[in-house]
Amino acid sequence: MILMDLLCHPVWAISTVLLALVVRLQRRAKWDPRACEVTLKGKTAIVTGANTGIGKFIAMDFARRGARVILACRSEARGSAALKEIRETTGNSNVHLRLVDVSSLDSVREFADRILAEEKALHILVNNAGASGLPREITKDGLEISFATNHLGPFLLTNLLLDLLKNSAPSRIVTVSSVNHKKGQVDFSHFRGENLKYHMDTVYNHTKLHNVICTTELARRLQGTGVCANSVHPGVVLTEVLRHYSLTVRFLFNLIGFFFFKSPEEGAVSSIYCAVAEDTEGITGKYFDSDCSLVLPAPLARDPALAVKDFEICERLTSKL
Ligand SMILES: NC(=O)c1ccc[n+]([C@@H]2O[C@H](COP(=O)([O-])OP(=O)(O)OC[C@H]3O[C@@H](n4cnc5c(N)ncnc54)[C@H](OP(=O)(O)O)[C@@H]3O)[C@@H](O)[C@H]2O)c1
Repeated sequence: MILMDLLCHPVWAISTVLLALVVRLQRRAKWDPRACEVTLKGKTAIVTGANTGIGKFIAMDFARRGARVILACRSEARGSAALKEIRETTGNSNVHLRLVDVSSLDSVREFADRILAEEKALHILVNNAGASGLPREITKDGLEISFATNHLGPFLLTNLLLDLLKNSAPSRIVTVSSVNHKKGQVDFSHFRGENLKYHMDTVYNHTKLHNVICTTELARRLQGTGVCANSVHPGVVLTEVLRHYSLTVRFLFNLIGFFFFKSPEEGAVSSIYCAVAEDTEGITGKYFDSDCSLVLPAPLARDPALAVKDFEICERLTSKL
C-alpha cells in the first residue's frame, strides 16, 4: 500500500516515468533486427522454449526471415498456441512444433532422433529454454532439476545435433545464458544436487555459468567445422521467468519491470544478433551482452582447463550408460 501511495504521488510518478525513459534509451541494443535484411530462406532453425517470453520472439524473427522454424516446447497446448500466433503474424507456414522436455535426457534423445530423421539440415540452434527458482528435485536421470533443465539437457541436445549442424555449415549455436553467471560457482557435485543452497537465484546462477563455460569449450572443439557457438545475456526481461518465485517477488519484479525492464521482444535481440547478423559471422566462443556488444564473461568462464574438465563431466553425465 505504501509503495502504491508513493507511486501515485505526482512527483514520484513523474520521476519514475522520466527515469524509465532514461533507462529505456540507455538499454537500447546497438543492433536493430528490423533494420537487418538477412534472409533465412532455405535455412532451418530450432528454438527451445519458443512458446513464450524471449524464445517466442526469437522464433518469430526467424519465421519473419523465411526460415523453416522448429519450436521445441514441452507443452502441446502452449506450443500450439505459439505456433498459431507465429504462423499468423509472419505469414510463414513452415513453422512446426516438436515436443521436448529439456530436463529429461530421454525426452531430449527422442526429440533429437526425430529431428535427425526428419530434417535434412540445421543452420541455427538456439538453446533458450530455461527456468529459475525451481524447488529442489532430482530427475530420474539422477540430476538436479535446474542443472538438468538449464544446462545438461541443452548440452546433450546440442551434442546430438552436432553432426547435422556440421553438415549444414555455416551454422550457429546460441546459448541463452545470463549476466547472473558472474555470481555462479563451479562445484561438480552440484550436478547431482549436492552442496547446493536454495536461496533465490543461487542455483540458477551456477547453471548459467556452466552454459558459458561449456559453450566456449564447444566452440574450441568446433574450430574449422564452420559451426559457431556463442552465449548471450538477453538483459533483464519482463517474462514469466520468475514463475517459481513467491507472489511478493513476482509482484515486485512485474511492478519494477513494467517501468524499467526489457520487453520479451527486446530481450530476443542479442540472441537474434548472434544467430543471424552478418557482423557476427565467424565469431565463436564468445559471450555477448544484452546490447549486442562482445564482452568478457566471468573469470571462471575464461579458464580453459576448467572448461575441458566441465565439458568432459557433462559428457559423462549425459551419456547413455
Ligand atoms: N527474463 C530474464 O530477465 C532473463 C535474464 C537472463 C537470462 N534469461 C534466460 O532467457 C531464457 C528464456 O527465459 P524467459 O525469460 O523467456 O523465461 P520464460 O518466459 O519463463 O520462458 C522460458 C521458456 O523455457 C521453457 N522451458 C522451461 N523449462 C523447460 C523444460 N524442462 N523443457 C522445455 N522447455 C522448458 C518454458 O516452457 P513452459 O512455458 O512450458 O514452461 C518457456 O517456453 C532462459 O534461459 C532464461 O534463463 C532470462
